[in-house]
Amino acid sequence: MQIRLPTPHPAQLEVLESGRRFRVVACGRRWGKTEVGKREIIEEALAGSGCWWLAPTYGMASQVWRDLKYACRDVPGLMISETEGRLDFPGGGWLAIHSAHLPDNLRGAGLDFVVLDEAAFMEPTVWPEVVRPMLLERKGRALFLSSPKSRNWFWEIYQMGVMNRRSWAHFQFPSSANPLIDPAELENIRLQTAERIYREEYLAEFIEDSGQVFRGIYEAATAPRDAVPAPDGVYVAGLDWGREGDYTAIVVIDAAARQVVALDRFNQVSWALQRGRLKAIHDHWRLRYIWAEANSIGSPNIEALQAEGLPIRPFITTAASKPPLIEALALAIERRELALLPDENLLAELAVYTQERLPAGGFRYTAPSGLHDDLVIALALAYHGIHFTAFPISFA
Ligand SMILES: Nc1ncnc2c1ncn2[C@@H]1O[C@H](COP(=O)(O)OP(=O)(O)O)[C@@H](O)[C@H]1O
Ligand SMILES: [Mg+2]
Repeated sequence: MQIRLPTPHPAQLEVLESGRRFRVVACGRRWGKTEVGKREIIEEALAGSGCWWLAPTYGMASQVWRDLKYACRDVPGLMISETEGRLDFPGGGWLAIHSAHLPDNLRGAGLDFVVLDEAAFMEPTVWPEVVRPMLLERKGRALFLSSPKSRNWFWEIYQMGVMNRRSWAHFQFPSSANPLIDPAELENIRLQTAERIYREEYLAEFIEDSGQVFRGIYEAATAPRDAVPAPDGVYVAGLDWGREGDYTAIVVIDAAARQVVALDRFNQVSWALQRGRLKAIHDHWRLRYIWAEANSIGSPNIEALQAEGLPIRPFITTAASKPPLIEALALAIERRELALLPDENLLAELAVYTQERLPAGGFRYTAPSGLHDDLVIALALAYHGIHFTAFPISFA
């Protein structure tokens, strides 16, 4: 059966061939995002799925509507409903076009597949409150397509892709990954465009904005991945206990070199197994101290580890004790006084960690809802710990 769409270019094929349930595609303008979405939604509908196409504005929705009708014009038995913006395919599959600018009008039945085109330009409530619930019964799939818009909700959902590899995939391509674009033309645009805008719209970079706590994290990720314990090394760890469904994380810092040398995170194993794993890390690095969050889950574990001879120091996290902990870490990273491991999970957690200004003054620090911060907390505790660690300094 003939579908009138261009043959995908190699980068588009990568997205199309990923079998993940949720895919987040951050690409520059004209890369071919909308084209990928059109191909996939037609293939889904032809295979019998119920699908939605969501666009941020009515104008964008109607352009895609025209394109999809044209692409499917040779499908025998296709039914077109102009009033509903819906195509019904002979096998029972269908697709409908919606504009996301009036979320209240966006209610519907269960879906198998949804495309959110230029997702970064939709209200942040559209996905969690309107679309995600529609995927529940049928375990529907979602394709997020957009160029970045600073680090708004689309950046958070992109980080979801980085952190949850089992059901998510993430893609990032500059406009130049579309082989049909003349590089000279892009260069021309670059010369005439503010750097920030070019990086965002054509290089598909998520540019930092002010809610972000940690800056310069990628520049600070210079620690070697293959560090081994030195005989006279002093190593300090930070430990964050996982709550339900969350990770327990440990980060080890070389206190003299001020480098992260190791990290580990694990979940869904018993406390006894977790303690065994921590003991193994301790035996390997001969930790001077392990600074651990002493909340309700923490204290029984802390006692058990202390009983086994581990040098645990409790840290009580409160609204007053947390900000200085985080701020000291942020400053150290920005000033390059602490080298980070180039670990994708660690950098992703640091990147999305946010501050909220409180009405009474000061800041509240958290990960955006649904994202992890266990490695951030473990790192902050370890960094805190090195200031309490006496170790010989050699003046060479
Ligand atoms: N694989 C392809 N082959 C030929 N033309 C393509 C291909 N992918 C995209 N295009 C064309 O390139 C232009 C930009 O594609 P589009 O999907 O609108 O980009 P984006 O949504 O990323 O801005 C459109 O004119 C589209 O038809
Ligand atoms: Mg597009």
